[in-house]
Amino acid sequence: MDHGFLRAAQECRKSGNPRAKQHEEIMRLENTFMHFLLQHQLAHSRTLNFLILMESVLTAANYIQYYYNMGAIHGNIGESGGINIQGEQVMRLDLMAHQILTHYLSQSRQVLEATSEEVPDEIRFNDEGRYIVYFDPLDGSSNVKHSLPVGFLFGIAKRNLEGPEDFHLRQGREFIAAGMFIIPSGIFTFGIRDAGTWRFLRDDSGVYVRPTRVIFPEDRKSWELCFNSSKRNQFSKKVNDWITAHEGDFNFRYAGSLAVDFHRLLHNGGMFMYPAIVNHRNPSNNRPNGKLRLMYECAVVAFLAHEAGGMAVNEAGDEILDVKPEDRHQRSTLYVGSKPLVQDIAAKLRGK
Ligand code: AHG
Ligand code: MN
Ligand code: MN
Repeated sequence: MDHGFLRAAQECRKSGNPRAKQHEEIMRLENTFMHFLLQHQLAHSRTLNFLILMESVLTAANYIQYYYNMGAIHGNIGESGGINIQGEQVMRLDLMAHQILTHYLSQSRQVLEATSEEVPDEIRFNDEGRYIVYFDPLDGSSNVKHSLPVGFLFGIAKRNLEGPEDFHLRQGREFIAAGMFIIPSGIFTFGIRDAGTWRFLRDDSGVYVRPTRVIFPEDRKSWELCFNSSKRNQFSKKVNDWITAHEGDFNFRYAGSLAVDFHRLLHNGGMFMYPAIVNHRNPSNNRPNGKLRLMYECAVVAFLAHEAGGMAVNEAGDEILDVKPEDRHQRSTLYVGSKPLVQDIAAKLRGK
């Protein structure tokens, strides 16, 4: 990587020029996400197509953030999808995020097929594309009207390069990468298969910089539990008993966006859960598969957790990464976080 300017400043400093120190203080030449990925691809003799794809993902994330911020400024933040104070119809931000993503993914020419939370069917882009993308363009949309953070989640798999593509829905274990952006905080977490989970920060110029490896902390002191406690009595007895046995040990936190909650959890440790709703007082409102979506919510955080030394299971105690999707929008229960806690509840869920 060329740190020419910094080197020049250092040489200048060695030569006794006092202005050189000033340069170093003013400038911090960062390692960017793109350079990080370039190094990874070259080190593993991979193509650069993945960089082109990721450039379009980053561009889309920047525009989603731009329109999130615009909403507040233009008074479009009220009930998304409603009417603003000027009497205009406001497009829901999750629909805008969907359109931004489809535009940039299509322009990249690297995507064969995509699945978005916002449309029922698959989206076909470029027949020559190497990648298949699953995404939730805006996660935690009820946070938007309060200017609270939201997310954008995605998982990426590769097409069959050996023979004809059968377009099967990929399980998390088949992802080559997954990631999530926290908007508008500008934090990007990116997991790459067998190479870890990494955090990047968006600087003021909109560039994602400073790769930092993320691993679940082992120290239980910071661990937290994260679930919608208003639904606690609707969970199964097994889950409720587990919570009763452990609630005194941990802080509770819940932001109402999986991406935001999982981001916090990744750094503090503990467990996020969205269990099966089996004891609703109106049984027709029971949700035995929980609320979250397998392909672009659960599998994404399961991939990131796995690469960060953690784990994710469903209500049966099976690893989320091993669940073969049958429907692109199917729901799944989710228990994700620090391995010891997830293993403990998985054993209970399996009835052992
Ligand atoms: P989305 O905005 O993409 O529909 O996702 C919202 C999801 C998820 O992000 C969050 O964890 C969960 O809904 C919160 O649900 P509850 O309000 O039932 O707790
Ligand atoms: Mn979501
Ligand atoms: Mn969404």
